[in-house]
Amino acid sequence: MAPLPFHHLLVAMAVLLLLLCSAIPSSASSRTLPASAATTTTVNVTRFGKAYTKVCDADRFAEMGLDMSSFPYCNASLPYADRVRDLIGWMTVEEKVGNLGDISRGAPRVGLPPYRWWSEGLHGISSTGPSTLFDDLRSKPGNHSGRATVNNGTVFANVINSAASFNETLWMSIGQVVSTEARAMYNLGKGGLTYWSPNINVVRDPRWGRALETPGEDPLVAGRYAVNFVRGMQDIPGHDDGTGGDPFARPIKTSACCKHYAAYDVDDWHNHTRFTFDARVSERDMAETFLRPFEMCVREGDASGVMCSYNRVNGVPACADARLLSGTVRRDWQLHGYIVSDCDAVRVMTDNATWLNYTGADASAAALRAGLDLDCAESWIEEKGKPLRDFLSEHGMAAVAGGKMRESDIDGALRNQYMTLMRLGYFDNIPQYASLNETDICTDEHRSLALDGARQGIVLLKNHDGMLPLDPNKILAVAVHGPHARAPEKVMDGDYTGPPCRYVTPRQGISQHVKISHKANMTIYFGGINLHIEREGNDREDLLLPKNQTAQILHFAKVSPNPIILVILSGGGIDISFAQKHPKIGAILWAGYPGGEGGNAIADVIFGRYNPGGRLPLTWFKNKYIHQIPMTSMEFRPVPELGYPGRTYKFYDGPDVLYPFGYGLSYTKFLYEVSTNGTSVTLPATGGHCKGLSYKPSVATTPACQAVNVDGHACAETVSFNISVTNAGGRDGAHVVLVYTVPPPEVAQAPIKQVAAFQRVLVPARSTATVPFTLNVCKAFGIVERTAYTVVPSGVSKVLVENGDSSSSSVSFPVKIDFSV
Ligand SMILES: *[C@@H]1O[C@H](CO)[C@@H](O)[C@H](O)[C@H]1NC(C)=O
Ligand SMILES: *[C@@H]1O[C@H](CO)[C@@H](O)[C@H](O)[C@H]1NC(C)=O
Ligand SMILES: *[C@@H]1O[C@H](CO)[C@@H](O)[C@H](O)[C@H]1NC(C)=O
Ligand SMILES: *[C@@H]1O[C@H](CO)[C@@H](O)[C@H](O)[C@H]1NC(C)=O
Ligand SMILES: *[C@@H]1O[C@H](CO)[C@@H](O)[C@H](O)[C@H]1NC(C)=O
Ligand SMILES: *[C@@H]1O[C@H](CO)[C@@H](O)[C@H](O)[C@H]1NC(C)=O
Ligand SMILES: *[C@@H]1O[C@H](CO)[C@@H](O)[C@H](O)[C@H]1NC(C)=O
Ligand SMILES: *[C@@H]1O[C@H](CO)[C@@H](O)[C@H](O)[C@H]1NC(C)=O
Ligand SMILES: *[C@@H]1O[C@H](CO)[C@@H](O)[C@H](O)[C@H]1NC(C)=O
Ligand SMILES: *[C@@H]1O[C@H](CO)[C@@H](O)[C@H](O)[C@H]1NC(C)=O
Ligand SMILES: *[C@@H]1O[C@H](CO)[C@@H](O)[C@H](O)[C@H]1NC(C)=O
Ligand SMILES: *[C@@H]1O[C@H](CO)[C@@H](O)[C@H](O)[C@H]1NC(C)=O
Repeated sequence: MAPLPFHHLLVAMAVLLLLLCSAIPSSASSRTLPASAATTTTVNVTRFGKAYTKVCDADRFAEMGLDMSSFPYCNASLPYADRVRDLIGWMTVEEKVGNLGDISRGAPRVGLPPYRWWSEGLHGISSTGPSTLFDDLRSKPGNHSGRATVNNGTVFANVINSAASFNETLWMSIGQVVSTEARAMYNLGKGGLTYWSPNINVVRDPRWGRALETPGEDPLVAGRYAVNFVRGMQDIPGHDDGTGGDPFARPIKTSACCKHYAAYDVDDWHNHTRFTFDARVSERDMAETFLRPFEMCVREGDASGVMCSYNRVNGVPACADARLLSGTVRRDWQLHGYIVSDCDAVRVMTDNATWLNYTGADASAAALRAGLDLDCAESWIEEKGKPLRDFLSEHGMAAVAGGKMRESDIDGALRNQYMTLMRLGYFDNIPQYASLNETDICTDEHRSLALDGARQGIVLLKNHDGMLPLDPNKILAVAVHGPHARAPEKVMDGDYTGPPCRYVTPRQGISQHVKISHKANMTIYFGGINLHIEREGNDREDLLLPKNQTAQILHFAKVSPNPIILVILSGGGIDISFAQKHPKIGAILWAGYPGGEGGNAIADVIFGRYNPGGRLPLTWFKNKYIHQIPMTSMEFRPVPELGYPGRTYKFYDGPDVLYPFGYGLSYTKFLYEVSTNGTSVTLPATGGHCKGLSYKPSVATTPACQAVNVDGHACAETVSFNISVTNAGGRDGAHVVLVYTVPPPEVAQAPIKQVAAFQRVLVPARSTATVPFTLNVCKAFGIVERTAYTVVPSGVSKVLVENGDSSSSSVSFPVKIDFSV
C-alpha cells in the first residue's frame, strides 16, 4: 500500500505534469484507434499470449526482472478479494488512472500486463473491437501473427433469428460454443476474455436500426434470452451457481455483458442521435419494460458485466446516473462484475451533449462516482511519445488533482475490474480450458449447431394451399431471383460478426436440391433489406421494401405460370401487405439474417428437410403505423391526447398489424388441449400489501383489496396446467407453445396480454406431446401499476395459449385471484 505522504507527493507531481501538459501546444488529437497503435499493442498481446496465458507465471515475472513470490496478488491460495486488494495496493494513482480505459496500460512495474477489454460475441466471435484478431485480412488490419492461423469462426444466425426459435436450449448452446471458441482465441493470443454481448434492449419501435441484434419486443423473452446466453458464455460445470460459494468469486468461462443500459433504442432518427437523445421515461415503463431484461440478465443470469448507454434518461446521461448504476444495478440487483461505458459515452457527455457544461474532468469524475468502472473508447487521444489515452485516463489525473475524483472511487472501479479478471482465470488460467486451440474453432459440431439454429429461427408467414415444401423429385428446376439470391456475407451475417467458417448463399443452398434455370416454372424471389437500411447508428425511414423490389416481385408473380415463393431477409419487420393476400405469391418465409450456414437452412425449409417452427419475436407493423407516433416518444401505452397508438403487442391493438408477435406457421397442424386442476388462487394480503388500481369507467364496484403488492410478498402460490399438443398432420415438427396471461378486463391501462412462459417441443406426426407449466402467480399475473409497483390484480385473469397461426386451436382458461386478509 502506498503510504499517505507518498500519495500526496503523487498528487503534487500530477499537478506539475498537468501544468506541463497544458503548456504543450495542442498536438494532441482524438481519433479512431490508428493502425499503428493496433500493431504496437498487438505485439504486446501476442507476446503475452504466445508464451503465457496467465499473468501469474513465475517465468514471466522473471523475464521482467521481478520475483513473483513477492506479489501476494499472485498467491492462488489467497481469496480473490485479498489478491485484488494487494494488486491495487501496489499501484500508484497514475497507474490506476491508466487502467480506467478498455485498452488498459497495466502496471509493468508490478508485473501487471496491459489488457484489452473490448471483445464482442453477439452471435459468434466478432471482429469488432481491438482485441479479436482473425488472420483473415478482410477482417481487420493490424499484426495478426499469433501462435496459429485462425481465419474464421462459427457465425450463428443473428439474435433476432435465434429469438424466433423460442428455444432456450439453443440460446444456451450458442453461448457455450461462442465461449469455447473465445477461450481458444485467447489461448492463441488472438482474443480477450470479456465479451460485450448480449444486446437486450427491447424493440420498442419497429424503425429501430438494431432490432437484428436483439431478442425482440417482449421483455420476458429478452430476459430469458439473456439468462441463457449469459449462462452459456459464463458457466463452468461445477461452478454454475453461487450456492455455498462467494458469488463474487465464482469462476467463469468468459465474461458476458448486458447492454445497453438503459432505455436505449434510438440510434439516429430525424437527427435525434443516440449521443444527445434524452429518453423521457416514466417509472412505470422503466420497471415494466426497459429494466426487466437487465434485471433478469444480472440476477438470474449472474452476468459479470453491464454496459451503460449513450443516451440520457430523464435528463441524466445513463453513464453518470448514480441511481441507475450504483443504486439499481450494483446495490439492488447485486451485480458481481463491472460496469463499462458504451464506447465514448463519457466523452460524448462533454463533446456532444454538453451536459451541465461539464469539463472532461467533471464528466470523468461524475461517471466514476455514479458507479462506472471502465471507459470504453472509440476515439483515442494520441500524442507522440505517450501511450494512447481514452477519455478517463486522459482526464483522470486532472480530476484527482482538482479534488473532483476520489482515489477510493478509482480503487472501487479497479476492484470490480480485477475481480472479474480473477474469476476468468486471467491471473491463474482455468485448467479445463487451457488446451483449447484452433482445432476447437469451426468444429463440425459448432457448424451443425449454426445450421440447426438458423433453421429453427425461420418463420413461415404464408403457405397457400400447402405450396411448401417443394418436392425436389417433382420440381426439377426453379428460377431464383432477387437481390439476396446471391447475398454476400455482409448481408447474411448481419452485424457484429467475424468471418464465417463457411459461407453458403441462398442460391447455393437451393442448388443442392434442384437445378436452377430460367426456364423453370417455379420462381423463388430473395428480397428484403440490409445493413444500409437498418444498422447501428441508423434507424429506418420506413418499413417498406425498397421500391424496385416490390415492382420486381409483382412482375415475377404476374409472369410466372405458378405462384411464386418469397423469402425475406431482414432484422426488423417489413410491410409486405401487397404480398400477404396476393394469389400469385403462394408462400412467404422470413429468414432474418441467418449467418454462414443460412443458404442451407433456407433450402432445407423450402424442400421440406426441416419443418419450420419459428414464431415472430416482434410485431410486423404496416407502414401506416409509423406515421402515428414519433420514434422519440418512449411511452408504451397509448397517449390519446397526442393520438399515439401504443407500442408492441402488449399495448397496441389497432388495425395496422400485418403479422402479429408470435405469428408463425408449420407444414403440419397442431391442436391444443388444456388440463388443469386448480384455477382459483388466494393470496394472503396481510401486512399492508393492498394497493389501489385504475379501473375502466364502466366498472361500478371494485373489490376492497384491489391488488396485492408483490414487493416483499412471499408469493409461493402457483398455477399448474398441462398443454397437450397434438400434431394432426403427416409431418414431424417443432412447435413453440406460447403462454400469455391476460389481466382482468375491468383494469384500466393494463397490458392486452403478456408472455408468461414458452416452450419449444418436437411433436412427431400424428402424436401428442404433453407440456407441463407451473406459473408463479406473482410473476405471471403481476402487472405494473401507475406508481411502478408490481401488483397482482384481484379478479379473473386468464391464461391464454395462442397458436402461431391464429387458428381456432388456441386455448384459454380463467384464473380467479382473490385475497385473504
Ligand atoms: C508481428 O508480430 C510478430 C510477433 O510479435 C513480429 O515478429 C512481427 O515482426 C510483427 N510484424 C509486423 C509486420 O509488425
Ligand atoms: C500464500 O498464502 C498462503 C495463505 O496465506 C500462505 O500460507 C503462503 O505462504 C503464501 N505463499 C507465498 C508464496 O507467499
Ligand atoms: C507493451 O509495450 C509497451 C510499449 O512498447 C512496453 O512498454 C510494455 O512493456 C509492453 N508490455 C509487455 C507485457 O510486453
Ligand atoms: C437533419 O439535419 C440535416 C443537416 O442539418 C438536414 O439537412 C436534414 O434535413 C435533417 N433531417 C431531418 C429528417 O430533419
Ligand atoms: C461529437 O463531438 C465531436 C467533437 O466535437 C465531433 O467530432 C463529433 O462529430 C460529434 N459527434 C456527433 C455524433 O455529433
Ligand atoms: C452552459 O454554458 C452556456 C454558455 O456559457 C450558458 O448559456 C448555459 O446556461 C450553461 N448551461 C448550464 C447548465 O450551466
Ligand atoms: C490442439 O488441441 C488438440 C486437443 O487437445 C491436440 O490434439 C492438438 O495437438 C492441438 N494442436 C496444436 C497445434 O497444438
Ligand atoms: C475459413 O478458414 C479455413 C481455414 O483457414 C479456410 O480453409 C476457409 O476457406 C475459410 N472460410 C472462409 C469462408 O473464408
Ligand atoms: C413444371 O414443369 C415441369 C416440366 O416442364 C412439369 O413436369 C411440372 O409438372 C411443372 N410443375 C408445375 C407445378 O407446374
Ligand atoms: C434497386 O435500386 C437500387 C438503386 O437504384 C439498385 O442498387 C438495386 O440493384 C435495385 N434492386 C433491384 C432488385 O432492382
Ligand atoms: C392434477 O391432479 C392429478 C391427480 O392428483 C395429477 O395426476 C395431475 O398431474 C394434476 N395435473 C396438473 C396439471 O397439475
Ligand atoms: C432446441 O435446440 C436444441 C439445440 O440446438 C436442439 O437440439 C433441440 O432439438 C431444439 N428443440 C426443438 C424442440 O426444436
